Amino acid sequence: MGLLSSSSSRLSTSHLTRSRSIVPSCIPFLAFLSVSIFLLYQVDVYIARTRKGPRRYQPTSYLLTPIPDEVQSRVITNGTFDRLFEITWGDDHADIHEEGELLTLRLDKRSGSGFRSKDEYLFGKIDMQLKLVEGNSAGTVTAYYLSSEGDFHDEIDFEFLGNTSGDPYTLHTNVYSQGKGNREQQFFLWFDPTADFHTYTIIWNPQRILFYVDEIPIREFTNNEAIGVPFPNTQPMRIHSSIWNAEEWATKGGRVKTDWSRAPFTAAYRNFNADACIWSSLKGSSCPLNSTKRSWFREKLNTAAVRKLKWAQKYHRVYNYCSDKWRFPEGPGLECKFVYILDKIT
Ligand SMILES: *[C@@H]1O[C@H](CO)[C@@H](O)[C@H](O)[C@H]1NC(C)=O
Ligand SMILES: *[C@@H]1O[C@H](CO)[C@@H](O)[C@H](O)[C@H]1NC(C)=O
Ligand SMILES: *[C@@H]1O[C@H](CO)[C@@H](O)[C@H](O)[C@H]1NC(C)=O
Repeated sequence: MGLLSSSSSRLSTSHLTRSRSIVPSCIPFLAFLSVSIFLLYQVDVYIARTRKGPRRYQPTSYLLTPIPDEVQSRVITNGTFDRLFEITWGDDHADIHEEGELLTLRLDKRSGSGFRSKDEYLFGKIDMQLKLVEGNSAGTVTAYYLSSEGDFHDEIDFEFLGNTSGDPYTLHTNVYSQGKGNREQQFFLWFDPTADFHTYTIIWNPQRILFYVDEIPIREFTNNEAIGVPFPNTQPMRIHSSIWNAEEWATKGGRVKTDWSRAPFTAAYRNFNADACIWSSLKGSSCPLNSTKRSWFREKLNTAAVRKLKWAQKYHRVYNYCSDKWRFPEGPGLECKFVYILDKIT
């Protein structure tokens, strides 16, 4: 441009006497300019139409700004994650892909992100496939859990504590009832949970809570109300998940910090399935209590399943609160004694 205009001004000074002929000599230049502007505009429109809208315009209930036209078309996909979940925080760090069937959460130095189910459940069999942060995930925690609200809340937890490359993730489990937790069991998995998707299942019925990994029961928490241990069976819970920075404690006791040069850290979710009783404050449970025909409602471990549970507990459990005398010098929860007796007789 600069070159062109200075050469045309040089042209005009050297041909001052023939000023009339300057006007026509500008015409090709002006034509070139307007054609370029037009083409640029077309390219811009083309890009705007073909490119997917910025991810932060995900339609979530937290989105108060109007959705731009080009993005609105994505809302009608109405896939599982669009329909049944809502992003609860870091909404520019949560993406829904593949027609609503794949969800990813991202963590970087600025923010983590999380989602929750729109529905509340009171008992159910809930499956989700997760693929965890790859490589050096030290300092990151991906939590996937059921939780009710309020001070005396109930909670059923799967939590994945990241590790340095090549070191095992810790799968942390816990059960809260009436606001009281301290029932941790931790596992090292028998596969790399970052290499592919694996299924994490919670079966929650009035008699027991079962944690499964790829259909292998890894933990059972039975209803011991009879001996005075509260059991989560009155408060409806939502499914929650989030990825966040817990470098203060998560990896090797907090000695290994998050390596932000590897951000963003991404966890992925797919194949959600809830065969569950949906709770509504107006209508109550969607399952007629005590008359549900679903097998999970009375699910208990058969001999083959008990064998699998024992295998997981023996070879893959790395922490059990029931045998932590340092944390619980006066002895752990009453339910531990019961488990111990069961272990003796079976
Ligand atoms: C999405 O699908 C569900 C059931 O499949 C339906 O009830 C709901 O109205 C749909 N939502 C939209 C926005 O189309
Ligand atoms: C990480 O790996 C080390 C072994 O190298 C292990 O002791 C530790 O428990 C693992 N997990 C976490 C969360 O630190
Ligand atoms: C549910 O059914 C079982 C037998 O199937 C019965 O023993 C129990 O009392 C029933 N519970 C309620 C709350 O009705």
